[in-house]
Amino acid sequence: MGLKAISDGKLAVLLLSGGQGTRLGSSDPKGCFNIGLPSGKSLFQLQAERILCVQRLAAQAKNEGAGSVQIHWYIMTSPFTDDATRKFFESHRYFGLEADQVTFFQQGTIPCISKDGRFVMETPFRIAKAPDGNGGVYSALKGSRLLEDMATRGIKYVDCYGVDNALVRVADPTFLGYFIDKGVAAAAKVVRKAYPQEKVGVFVRRGKGGPLTVVEYSELDPSLASAINQQTGRLRFCWSNVCLHMFTLDFLNQVTNGLERDSIYHLAEKKIPSAHGYSMGLKLEQFIFDAFPYAPSTALFEVLRDEEFAPVKNANGSNFDTPDSARLLVLRLHSRWVVAAGGFLTHSVPLYATGVEVSPLCSYAGENLEPICRGRTFHAPCEISF
Ligand code: UTP
Repeated sequence: MGLKAISDGKLAVLLLSGGQGTRLGSSDPKGCFNIGLPSGKSLFQLQAERILCVQRLAAQAKNEGAGSVQIHWYIMTSPFTDDATRKFFESHRYFGLEADQVTFFQQGTIPCISKDGRFVMETPFRIAKAPDGNGGVYSALKGSRLLEDMATRGIKYVDCYGVDNALVRVADPTFLGYFIDKGVAAAAKVVRKAYPQEKVGVFVRRGKGGPLTVVEYSELDPSLASAINQQTGRLRFCWSNVCLHMFTLDFLNQVTNGLERDSIYHLAEKKIPSAHGYSMGLKLEQFIFDAFPYAPSTALFEVLRDEEFAPVKNANGSNFDTPDSARLLVLRLHSRWVVAAGGFLTHSVPLYATGVEVSPLCSYAGENLEPICRGRTFHAPCEISF
């Protein structure tokens, strides 16, 4: 069902890529980051090639030639990432995509404030500003009239995701098929929370039968965070939000039209460039998931963390969610795919620290690898490509 909708041109993907990535500490947009895979591919390239792979799978499912299916890619940037992102795509020839299937648009900014409520000054004459959060996507879509653009193209469903997940399944046909089958307006992929104190937001229903919404870890009482559901034996609040959402275009229109009435800002304590160097201050951010309570119908779709979630948040040397940890998650998953497809691995460094990488141009989620892998031996680390 998902592949059919894709081959009918009903799916667009929307990348949230306006964040400043202060924790990663790179001056380039996060999507340009090379996490050290054998191929040296950036996060943008991995995502672009997954789109190319889904286009091919959708064309095959329809018995048509590659090139007959095109998925439009909307990329939200901010004044901090826009120029560098566009140049990166141009200099890499859109990673094999057609230039006109990619549309860049910018989100807005909002002044930063100090903890005592004053504006932070970036220079003696200029207020420091930051992007208005990934929920700024709604007003940015409205301002750039891109929902009309989507309607003109015949798009019905929009897959929205964050840039900083090395395992993200962009344009996932399975998720889309589930979404269409359920007939809901908004859905999110979730992974099981790893441990009670993990710093992730969780999906909850507020009140019995109330709307589905996300509660940030900082807002969840520690006793509730570790509460157990007696029926399932799992954490009571176990569905972690990993910024993978599917919306109908109708719902996006509804949200963007109701914006002025319902805008909520969250306070995020982050490093802010100021006239006196970096200082800790507060950014005002809207979150994409704040729209969920307004959806007439919603669904969650559980996916396996090991297969779909490799966050790149912090610089190497930090304890978690680093480029190094994300690279290992990719290599481990892909090594399992290769072995399952009948391949063999050799390695001169311990296998827990290495593995093979499968090019997204060969396989989206481990499929179609037998002809390439069966009976062959690969020396890790390496990239397996056509
Ligand atoms: P994060 O909340 O991790 O923020 O973004 P960040 O800016 O990337 O990193 P830090 O917190 O400064 O270290 C989650 C996703 O939302 C996007 C990011 O690009 C990432 O894909 N995002 C975040 C935006 O598109 N706009 C924003 O204003 C903030």
